[in-house]
Amino acid sequence: MPTLSTRTECFTDSVIRRMTRISNQYGAVNLSQGFPDFDPPKEILHRFAEIAREDFHQYSITWGAQNFREALAKKQEHFTGLKTDPNGEIVVTCGSTEAMMAAMMSVTNPGDKVIIFSPFYENYGADTILSGAEPIYVPLNPPEFSFDPDVLEAAFRQKPKALILCNPSNPCGKVFTYDELKIIADLAEKYDTFVITDEVYEHIVYAPNKHVYFASLPNMRERTISCSSLSKTYSITGWRLGYVIASPEVIDRVKKVHDFLTVGAAAPLQEAAVTGLNFGDGYYADLQAKYTEKRSLFLKGLDDLKISHTEPQGAYYVLLDISEFGYESDLEFCELLAEKVGVGAVPGSSFFKEPENRYIRMHFAKKSETLNEALNRLADMRKKMPKR
Ligand SMILES: Cc1ncc(COP(=O)(O)O)c(C=O)c1O
Repeated sequence: MPTLSTRTECFTDSVIRRMTRISNQYGAVNLSQGFPDFDPPKEILHRFAEIAREDFHQYSITWGAQNFREALAKKQEHFTGLKTDPNGEIVVTCGSTEAMMAAMMSVTNPGDKVIIFSPFYENYGADTILSGAEPIYVPLNPPEFSFDPDVLEAAFRQKPKALILCNPSNPCGKVFTYDELKIIADLAEKYDTFVITDEVYEHIVYAPNKHVYFASLPNMRERTISCSSLSKTYSITGWRLGYVIASPEVIDRVKKVHDFLTVGAAAPLQEAAVTGLNFGDGYYADLQAKYTEKRSLFLKGLDDLKISHTEPQGAYYVLLDISEFGYESDLEFCELLAEKVGVGAVPGSSFFKEPENRYIRMHFAKKSETLNEALNRLADMRKKMPKR
């Protein structure tokens, strides 16, 4: 058999997705991979049901259906204050996952450096490997997950082509403040660097924190490649709808990369999702309230069990401190947690560049009864986890 590509040699499978399979194997309450167990908005589902009998079964325009792009441009202007040209500044992709990959492929050459904050969403590692770029990791230091501006500038001095900004951040729940974003923006301008944002949790932010769109900072419009998704905002992670918004020069390139990667996102699903993009402010306020309630329920439950944890400002993840259990491998801890306690989690080490095994990540995008069941099971964690 001929050899396989060296580019993919160092790939492991996604630890997040592996933990879902392990959770299923043991019948664990799966709080590992971040997806809801409640329904998407009924208006979207209603439109979805109608579409089966309508004419949306062939390819849409490769960079996205016209009405989807128009609805998205309107929503973006509403939330960011920036006018977006639906024809020249948007590409609809198969999730933010493809959006990020297409953005990376469009701006980097093999060997180019890319700044990534650590902890980071695990796909970014694979994105750099597939595009041939080299990551420079800059730590976000627990417990506040703040960065040292001098360390960040040292990374910029290595002349990176781009910085990846996950805001609100998975896994640490950080919502970057305006002042932090301004530091990044000033450095991006000084060192002439692109900023590729991943803003899939833009509408899941807990008061008093506020999401600031990076593209809306002074002079940042031109150098920002904004990636986001409908997965989390409308609870449709399986629909695989995301997008890139950037300047016409960048988008022209992203359109080509996207065309050859996937041709296009699913046409009937784009049509159904237009209903969601047209929702008014009330929808987003309700979403925020719903997640604020879930966050309170789950964090209070952890507090009652005296399990120390992070306080997410946005997104729907919490890092639990497992140092009291004395495990050297957080992966082993998570496997045993699924098997013996019946709760699925992701080992924190899969998100950190630094050697770190004191955290496991759980998410709370679940119905109250699911979260309560997980908390009931976690009540026995100290009794059931094998000693180390
Ligand atoms: C930060 C972040 N980006 C991207 C994704 C994937 O988004 P999509 O479903 O749009 O591909 C996730 C999913 O958990 C995520 O947490």
